[in-house]
Amino acid sequence: MNKYFISANWKMNGSKEFTRTFFASMNEDIDEDVKIIICPADCYLNTVDAMAPKNVIRGAQNISFNTDGAYTGEVSASMLKDLNVEYVIIGHSERRDYHVETNEIIRKKFNTAVSANLKPILCVGESLDQRQKEETFNHIENQILSVINKEILSNHPFLIAYEPIWAIGTGETATPEIANEVHSFIHGTLDKIDSIQSKKIAIIYGGSVNSNNAYDLFKMSHINGALIGGSSLDANEFNKIYKIAKEINNE
Ligand code: PGA
Repeated sequence: MNKYFISANWKMNGSKEFTRTFFASMNEDIDEDVKIIICPADCYLNTVDAMAPKNVIRGAQNISFNTDGAYTGEVSASMLKDLNVEYVIIGHSERRDYHVETNEIIRKKFNTAVSANLKPILCVGESLDQRQKEETFNHIENQILSVINKEILSNHPFLIAYEPIWAIGTGETATPEIANEVHSFIHGTLDKIDSIQSKKIAIIYGGSVNSNNAYDLFKMSHINGALIGGSSLDANEFNKIYKIAKEINNE
């Protein structure tokens, strides 16, 4: 298993010029053990493909659960494959909230993705209300078990991103201890499905990651990198976070 995945979720931000500038300032040598995944808006996937170094992995932010046909505005798994996409974010809390994506819809999207050999980044996480009511573990277990089963765990590569909703875009990151506790719980949940296959699943953290908090997060035993929103829009900041992961990997 790769030790670290440093992933950028650009959300609905960027332009051709932004993409050009971003990759022009990507000066870090990319380490085989520390992967970079860039997830732009679909309309810039071609630009990323043209501008990014070869070993930068291409990702998308969403997928249709249909394979093709009359679904205006949707983008299919095979279209993403056609654009050299390897990963796709599925179940981000912004899609669960603003686009009413239920666990059932997310399960269908996940299955469509793996059928096309795309690797999902399955996002899970609790709201502040759920945390305060001590529902975090139940909620996350539910989100995972409604999508992941033994067949998937045995046959399809994927990542899980733990993204507490209260930490996304708020500047309030989970402490490394809180994040690690949930990551460890997620590993335990996967162990219950298949304790051998679960070892190969990396769990990345998302929610206000920046170059000041990355070191302490990445040092935790169950944290395998990050899904980064705001800080990934600043190439300098993103490079710094990448460098931190690389340094820890080489320690
Ligand atoms: P953030 O977003 O880093 O801006 O908190 C993370 C995400 O939503 O994936």
